[in-house]
Amino acid sequence: MAEVRLADCAGFCFGVKRAVDTVHEQVKTGKKIYTYGPIVHNDEVVRELEALGVGVLENEKELTDLVSKDRGEGEKEIVVVIRAHGVPKRIYDRMEQNGLECVDATCPFVKRIHRIVEKESLEGKHIVILGNPGHPEVEGIRGWCHGAADVLETEEEAFEYMPPGGKTLCVVAQTTFNYNKFKHIVEIFQKKGYNDTVVNTICNATKERQEAARALAREADVMIVIGGKHSSNTRKLYDICKGECEYTCFLETLDDLHLEELPKSIRLVGITAGASTPNKLIEEVQNYVRINF
Ligand code: F3S
Repeated sequence: MAEVRLADCAGFCFGVKRAVDTVHEQVKTGKKIYTYGPIVHNDEVVRELEALGVGVLENEKELTDLVSKDRGEGEKEIVVVIRAHGVPKRIYDRMEQNGLECVDATCPFVKRIHRIVEKESLEGKHIVILGNPGHPEVEGIRGWCHGAADVLETEEEAFEYMPPGGKTLCVVAQTTFNYNKFKHIVEIFQKKGYNDTVVNTICNATKERQEAARALAREADVMIVIGGKHSSNTRKLYDICKGECEYTCFLETLDDLHLEELPKSIRLVGITAGASTPNKLIEEVQNYVRINF
């Protein structure tokens, strides 16, 4: 029987736990609860909340429609919970204008970035965000900048980057950005002689989880990474583990595990999970693996 070991840090991080707990608390108030965007990037968690009557507003249009809908007498009051990854400032403004009750579950580490870019851009700096331009967290950060901001994802983009004439830059990163890439890009900017203020806004929870996953993957014969398909931090864990362990599997649910594709003789199975993966799912996978390997 193979040994099954869970990485030292795996699963819900502080910010995600806080956001999910916030929604559960709000459900108890008996009001109609919506989250703005999925509260975390994990379909299982979102489905569980849906079963409790929590709705998801996917975009600004749905938020507007919600307000303009004719609400009859005796309808429940509405509360909108802001997701852990945060949203642009205009979403708060829209809720306030429309008198919607808003509960902010933005992770404090993400909120810190909002405050930095808001202040620095107001003081005239040009904001550069290192991250994935399509990620909601980056969209949220952009939405707190006064004026335009640029998003860079790769070293190549940093090499080619030309800041707007004469502007001092303020460089921040998406909380899940890879630390080595961050360092390289800052070095590139230094070599190019750009005048910048750099704030390392990468979250420690991500780094700790990545280091623990790498250490375990180095020893493991099979590595299992559990998390949502849309979760960028889970995808990064997968890439790190795959670099160390050939047999690395990405599971969203137990159904994605195909034992027949794995080698027969295995000593150690390592398990890790992204920041929005619930404990229940990690335990389910752990138990299954213990019985079947
Ligand atoms: Fe917050 Fe870090 Fe988690 S930024 S949401 S504690 S990964």
